[in-house]
Amino acid sequence: MRRPVRIAVTGAAGAISNSLLFKVASGEMLGKDQPVILQLIEMPGRMEALRGLAMELEDCAYPLLHTITLHDNVEDGFNNVHYALLIGARPRGAGMERRDLLESNAEIFSRQGRALNDFANRDVKVLVVGNPANTNALIASRNAPKLSPSQFTALTRLDHNRAKGILANHTGANPRNIGRIVIWGNHSPSQFPDLHHATVLDEPVMGQIDRSWYEEVFIPKIQNRGGEIIAARGLSSAASAAQAVIDHMHDWILGTEPGEIVSMGIVSDGSYGVEKGIIYSFPVRCDYGRYQIVKGLEIGDWARERMKATEAELIEERDAVQHLLPAETAESHQNLSICLRSGVTLYADGTGPDASSKYLTTNRVM
Ligand code: LMR
Repeated sequence: MRRPVRIAVTGAAGAISNSLLFKVASGEMLGKDQPVILQLIEMPGRMEALRGLAMELEDCAYPLLHTITLHDNVEDGFNNVHYALLIGARPRGAGMERRDLLESNAEIFSRQGRALNDFANRDVKVLVVGNPANTNALIASRNAPKLSPSQFTALTRLDHNRAKGILANHTGANPRNIGRIVIWGNHSPSQFPDLHHATVLDEPVMGQIDRSWYEEVFIPKIQNRGGEIIAARGLSSAASAAQAVIDHMHDWILGTEPGEIVSMGIVSDGSYGVEKGIIYSFPVRCDYGRYQIVKGLEIGDWARERMKATEAELIEERDAVQHLLPAETAESHQNLSICLRSGVTLYADGTGPDASSKYLTTNRVM
């Protein structure tokens, strides 16, 4: 057995976590040989609900579940963590747009960025799920000067999986035979679900579907799926979001399938002409615990326009929270070449791979 890793989860008694934690504890996220320590964080008024969930986790007798600790603040909960899943946020109710949440969640994520900076393992990998996820991830990252921007990501794998599932249904293909879907931009209705590079059984998708179905049915369906689920259930998606968290972290840490592309919200290095320093969903491949943007995809004018529209929304969101983005981290988010992390985990007790500069300063993440 490997030594256990520490995973912090905020909003741990919420609906997404209720699905997620059982998957994590059973090894679906990090593999069947990786023990986990769960550091679960909730608001003080939710600690009894969290205690109940922890009892259920204990009652599953998962061999990989090493320890559970419960915390009512992020400063304790993030102590020494290798992975941080930031799920807790003010939820979106019926009739609300994600951007309505911007201001109310912004303070939460600046505090979380500072706490990660001060208490987490310096190689921590962070996934923001709470909406508006891209801009919340930006706020957290900009408030963590000692960490690299490349350690902060936002969840667009949910949109990616939705696109794959719905395309599978439409074409009759098994999702496993669909590849190279790209979600560009924001986790919001402005996102651009791009099928121009996608394949079914290694053949281009665009030759197998009607252009009008793609433009008039598929794209709006993916863009508005979150809202459609809220309207139907009266609640945000939960189990599918949990599955997307598992897939995102699994691929980031353990690598993507050979030849496969996945979508991750990451800090833009200017690839594809996207404004540097915003958290934008790009096509990536992962290996050795690092992600790399897939370069060189051909982008036509029609697609470019859609990529620009979602970029414009993210720039607007960034400008709306400018007061929470310290000037100190502006440069590191503009010039990623000076932000280095190997993805190699160092343990707080000084063990693990040698803490030589070889591991910490030579490998660019992107
Ligand atoms: C979703 O996409 O299902 C979630 O992000 C819910 C939401 O608020 O859109």
